[in-house]
Amino acid sequence: MNTLAAINHQVRLAARPIGLPKPGDWSRTEEPVREPADGEILVKVLYLSLDPAMRGWMNEGKSYIPPVGLGEVMRAGGVGRVIASRSPHFAEGDYVSALTGVQEYWTGRADDKLAGVARIDPQLAPLPVWLNALGMPGMTGYFGLTEIGRPKAGETVLVSGAAGAVGQTVGQVARHLGCRAIGIAGGRDKCDFVVNELGFDGCIDYKNTSLRDGLKQHCPNGVDVYFDNVGGEILDTVLTRINFKARIVICGAISQYNNTTPVKGPSNYLSLLVNRARMEGMVVFDFAERYQEAVQIIGKWIQEGSFKTREDIVEGLDQFPAALLMLFEGKNFGKLVLRVAAG
Ligand SMILES: NC(=O)c1ccc[n+]([C@@H]2O[C@H](COP(=O)([O-])OP(=O)(O)OC[C@H]3O[C@@H](n4cnc5c(N)ncnc54)[C@H](OP(=O)(O)O)[C@@H]3O)[C@@H](O)[C@H]2O)c1
Repeated sequence: MNTLAAINHQVRLAARPIGLPKPGDWSRTEEPVREPADGEILVKVLYLSLDPAMRGWMNEGKSYIPPVGLGEVMRAGGVGRVIASRSPHFAEGDYVSALTGVQEYWTGRADDKLAGVARIDPQLAPLPVWLNALGMPGMTGYFGLTEIGRPKAGETVLVSGAAGAVGQTVGQVARHLGCRAIGIAGGRDKCDFVVNELGFDGCIDYKNTSLRDGLKQHCPNGVDVYFDNVGGEILDTVLTRINFKARIVICGAISQYNNTTPVKGPSNYLSLLVNRARMEGMVVFDFAERYQEAVQIIGKWIQEGSFKTREDIVEGLDQFPAALLMLFEGKNFGKLVLRVAAG
């Protein structure tokens, strides 16, 4: 490819959103593709990961990662193909995952720690799966459950956002560890998928049935590990059903990310005291040194057919602003991925 002639289309953060991001919070730019310098690679981005965390990265203020600056290309994880390399570690034609940003091409140092460039194997699983179970959400579910939730065989593991990227992994890892896995998801179709395709032991449709009744039905002996992806009312209700020494993994709180009022904290938190239970936050990047461990295990399960994944793929870089909103409306069915270019 003559990369010098290619144009890189990009989506940049234009304004800090109040509530749900609006079209005016984004700008579209284009610039010539930059050739790699010594130690750099040029990647053609094929798929981008759309993540609830993006909403937090758009806010000013201290977090576990600096905010995206106004005018900067929006941060995003992606997978793509190396089309030019001046690094001894990558060759043209290699497939990689990296924090590429919402753009068609990424040029950067192959050893950039923040970008986290890693070679991926499309033979092991299709590229979008590398943004799902074999990517950041999968690592989150795997290490969040095994290291923070620490379930024992026979225990009941409950996970919200069960049909989503992180939730799919949590429930299936729990099953592999010999636990009962119960999901919480919005809608009959998602619940059917979670039970019939992913092999969970049950799923509560919180949008159409009572969560309280569902917990009584599906967790008759209480909840030992609750993996919380949504926060808010759901977390508060689950707190009324936890067991002695229960562990609650605070992974995310998507129900609160677009609030224009303060985050709603759990009013039932004294259940932690009564049950000598604990709630603990986790950030996936803390486990970066161990990602390969989880990739090997989950990759083997995928190949054996004992671990399923589902991706929801939206076509085209231009769709980024609208597609991101799907996450906050529960319109994604599986890991939300944007296809930027053909493989
Ligand atoms: N701590 C970390 O390192 C880390 C890393 C990755 C992700 N996370 C967090 O993990 C969570 C899940 O992320 P994901 O990528 O797997 O997303 P996802 O579950 O694939 O997609 C988001 C889902 O959240 C649910 N949702 C949206 N608004 C909701 C609301 N108001 N109340 C209840 N549920 C709502 C929807 O599912 P339903 O249709 O079922 O409602 C939606 O499909 C997020 O909170 C994310 O921030 C944390």
